[in-house]
Amino acid sequence: MRDTRIPLDDLRRSLRPVAADWDGRQPMDRLGRPLRDLRISVTDRCNFRCSYCMPKEVFDKTHAFLPHSALLSFEEITRTAKLFVGLGVRKLRLTGGEPLLRKNLERLVEMLAALRTPEGEPLDLTLTTNGSLLARKAQALKDAGLQRITVSLDALDDAVFRRMNDVDFPVADVLRGIEQAQAVGLAPIKVNMVVKRGTNDHEVLPMAEHFRGSGIVLRFIEYMDVGATNGWRMDEVLPSAELLQRLLQRHALEAMDPTAEGETAERWRYADGSGEIGLISSVTQAFCGGCNRARLSTEGRLFLCLFAGAGHDLRALLRSGVGDEQIAATIAGIWQRRADRYSELRGVAAPAPDVRRVEMHYIGG
Ligand code: GTP
Ligand code: 5AD
Ligand code: SF4
Ligand code: SF4
Repeated sequence: MRDTRIPLDDLRRSLRPVAADWDGRQPMDRLGRPLRDLRISVTDRCNFRCSYCMPKEVFDKTHAFLPHSALLSFEEITRTAKLFVGLGVRKLRLTGGEPLLRKNLERLVEMLAALRTPEGEPLDLTLTTNGSLLARKAQALKDAGLQRITVSLDALDDAVFRRMNDVDFPVADVLRGIEQAQAVGLAPIKVNMVVKRGTNDHEVLPMAEHFRGSGIVLRFIEYMDVGATNGWRMDEVLPSAELLQRLLQRHALEAMDPTAEGETAERWRYADGSGEIGLISSVTQAFCGGCNRARLSTEGRLFLCLFAGAGHDLRALLRSGVGDEQIAATIAGIWQRRADRYSELRGVAAPAPDVRRVEMHYIGG
């Protein structure tokens, strides 16, 4: 086996300035944002080919996914998550690709569910899935300590859904997964609908109707220009303001206060008490101001923004033999230098077309 370790002296030399900058407290980035949310991608593979994320033409049989040896092990993920908790993280979200494709994921859930904040509290532990394997796995996930879950679902109409996942997957199976998640007590359940004008925007009202009164929070997401392969066009974005107008023609809605600092969704409730919806407007109303999210890729790279071009290699550090304190200091130093606010800047100027950006299936949204 190839020795991937970095000579310790080299590593110590490269770490010194970073460690020296950090005072041991929870780090703030250059825009005064703390580190609260860690999104962990556990696989870059997916059994769907949603055109806005993994278009079939690009992610075909010739596409090279990461080999198993490149992935962080569950032990490495847990060690990293624990260090992040020490730096202020209070929410862990497992993503993919499709996270339920990672073998024995329940074991990782169990390991992460055992982590505690410095005050001894459990973390907010959740997962975003396409729901295809959920009916089978919901009980095991719940038993392992998963609290809540978010399911991506872009349409109720079977033909529209099959076209959007592009692998002819039936909507009924995802709905069964959501029912099962509800039955085993994963709560709250959220459903994420990415809305593309001209593709599924006619499904907005049926989706709202379906989930109203179910206790499930439906969130409408503006189609984003993530990665470089989805052929994003502004005219395919349905701005949340327009979507809200459509909903208001049918239902009385009241704005709600945010529940957490830096959260992605603007929350609204039905005036008759029949539930809540969310609007995620990263294109027309960027929420970078409170962004406290870091992303850990499947192979252990730390990304500071969904739209970043490159990540910091934590895997090399984890496998180098250095201690926890030094790794924590390195992460803190990286966070302290962060100034990312891509979506806000995107509103001001179009990004250079040749900028290399990380793909959604690799970093998990
Ligand atoms: P909750 O904790 O349940 O509110 O989840 P969340 O909204 O933080 O995460 P989720 O995985 O449900 O993501 C919802 C949508 O928001 C997806 O389309 C994500 O890609 C997008 N999203 C999440 N975090 C960010 C972010 O930091 N920046 C941008 N631009 N989009 C984000
Ligand atoms: N724009 C908006 N949301 C997206 N997602 C994936 N690709 C995009 C995109 N281009 C969503 C998924 C999932 C979440 C993690 O990100 O549907 O719900
Ligand atoms: Fe898979 Fe989710 Fe990407 Fe669709 S959006 S291809 S389900 S990772
Ligand atoms: Fe955070 Fe980057 Fe998203 Fe802005 S665009 S909210 S900085 S991840």
